Amino acid sequence: MSTGAAANSVILDEQDRAEPEWRGVAAEEVDELSAHTGARLAARSRRLLRSLIRPHRGKALAMIALVVVEQASFMIGPLLVAYGIDSAVPALVRGDGWPLTVAVGGYLVAGVVNAATRAAFVRVTAVLAQAMLLDIRGRVFDHSQELSVSFHEKYTSGRVIARMTSDLDTLQDLAAEGLDSLISGILSVGVISVVLLVLDPPLGLIALAAGIPIALCTKWFQKVSRTIYRRSRRVVAALIVQFTETMNGLRAVKSFRREARNRAIFGALNTDYARANGDGYVVIAKYSPGIHLIGNVTLTVVMLVGALRVMDGAIAVGVLAAFLLYVRRMYDPLEELAMFYNAFQSASAALEKISGLLEEQATVPEPATPQPIGEIAGEVTFSGVEFSYTPGVPVLHELNLTIPAGQTVAIVGATGAGKSTVAKLLARFYDPTEGTVLLDGVDVSQLSTADLRRGVVMVTQESFLFSGPVADNIAIGRPSATRAEIEAAADAVGAGAFIRALPEGFDTDVHKRGGRLSAGQRQLVAFARAFLADPAVLILDEATASLDIPSERAVQAALGRVLHGRTAVIIAHRLSTVEIADRVLVMADGRIVEDGPPRDLIARGGTFADVHAAWRASLV
Ligand SMILES: Nc1ncnc2c1ncn2[C@@H]1O[C@H](COP(=O)(O)OP(=O)(O)O)[C@@H](O)[C@H]1O
Ligand SMILES: [Mg+2]
Repeated sequence: MSTGAAANSVILDEQDRAEPEWRGVAAEEVDELSAHTGARLAARSRRLLRSLIRPHRGKALAMIALVVVEQASFMIGPLLVAYGIDSAVPALVRGDGWPLTVAVGGYLVAGVVNAATRAAFVRVTAVLAQAMLLDIRGRVFDHSQELSVSFHEKYTSGRVIARMTSDLDTLQDLAAEGLDSLISGILSVGVISVVLLVLDPPLGLIALAAGIPIALCTKWFQKVSRTIYRRSRRVVAALIVQFTETMNGLRAVKSFRREARNRAIFGALNTDYARANGDGYVVIAKYSPGIHLIGNVTLTVVMLVGALRVMDGAIAVGVLAAFLLYVRRMYDPLEELAMFYNAFQSASAALEKISGLLEEQATVPEPATPQPIGEIAGEVTFSGVEFSYTPGVPVLHELNLTIPAGQTVAIVGATGAGKSTVAKLLARFYDPTEGTVLLDGVDVSQLSTADLRRGVVMVTQESFLFSGPVADNIAIGRPSATRAEIEAAADAVGAGAFIRALPEGFDTDVHKRGGRLSAGQRQLVAFARAFLADPAVLILDEATASLDIPSERAVQAALGRVLHGRTAVIIAHRLSTVEIADRVLVMADGRIVEDGPPRDLIARGGTFADVHAAWRASLV
């Protein structure tokens, strides 16, 4: 997160006030949104929408049928009024009550049909919308979880959360109200226009002429509100990203006293968000009364011209009454439609971003037909491996390495030498740019995920614990494990004693009060998890770095047991760990520069011998 520019921005003009603040916070969100034209849905959004509707085609058709009947029963009202005034009332005066019975009965039936179809429509729409939202929420979660580590390194957790929260909320809003107003709005405007022109073309044209100023006002409204709305979408995404980053990095925030800076950034975003939303209402406050005014002026003109036409005998009084009723009914949904323009904008942008996330491909996909491997011995081979995170910036160069099954290898080297990268390639967080990584002679990219996780387990410094009992956290290593096996695993790594001392022992919730574990304790739980998983190859990437010396000693003692009978790759910055290794690899700038048993390397003299001598000296 870059904040350098933000610190210098004191006074900026209205438009840019918060921009530099969150430019750094969510630059990618902003770029993604700017790329979206909003005018029409991109192909991927349409694909997503189709796939969401497909399983519910029946309901979607029912919804359309219902809204058509509902609108028809609503539209017939003014026609019945016209019939009543022009035919039924005069007939009644003549002593024939039948036409009035038809008009009144028809109106009543239309009213009942309208109420019934309305109820059914709202229900079907809600069911359909919730089914689609259920589906898409599940898909976003599953897919985000499936995507490779490399994706999540670029697409921060804040952005995934924004997809899951604000974007899905927008779709929810649209589903709840927008869909209804869209369909009824378009239908009523279309049907009423036709009916008016058929009833009396001259008066119909006058009524429809109001469409011109309304169209102009709506165009203005859309233009202004789109700008405001986009600003608010950008800011809300940045707001979420900023919030999650602060919470995720709370320790760094505290230790560097960054609260004030964060408060300033968040405060600016928060203010800008409120301002954008406020501006949105200001625009509505101009637009909505404007449309009402045009509607009322139109009504007056129609009444005036209509009265003259009635006088001329061109139309009957009832037709004029129908006109007045129709004109009223036409402009209300129009206004509503315009109001929902933002909801459609939001929804299409949200759909765009969600479909973008859903169409991301895992960079390390499970092969369609994995190669069976059976019992895994644990021989590891890197054959001509080259790797770069960023194209053109190689991190590993032409790496050739064979680790026989059962060997304990320590990798040492300066920070940035590429040690963790070797570990991540072996665990297949990434695939090599060139060459292959083999487990028992099988390319790891050809293994099923299940075989790969059975074969290779990596423990890193950031041992993550999930909410829930300690026992469950250990059982992640092997979900089928019994309680006895879980406890045995904890004992094997020397974690049993402290776990039993917790308020509820193995049943203590690791995130509840009293269950909170220290970094070292979390690490021991992670070791127990790995031990229980019983992989053929175990990778420890600086896994003991957060342990204090006594805990590290305890792990050290347990390590013999943990590593027994399996291949181990230990990346350690404390040389004490190296003592138990059969072999040491010294890495520098993405290459292995020394390779051999620790004794030989010391005897030969070289980087490792120097470092080792210095370490020895520090001990006395
Ligand atoms: N996710 C990443 N994206 C881009 N570059 C990375 C990433 N992870 C590591 N690097 C770069 O790769 C090089 C090797 O990193 P790493 O394997 O983590 O080193 P070590 O574990 O030896 O400290 C470093 O120059 C580092 O900056
Ligand atoms: Mg590292």
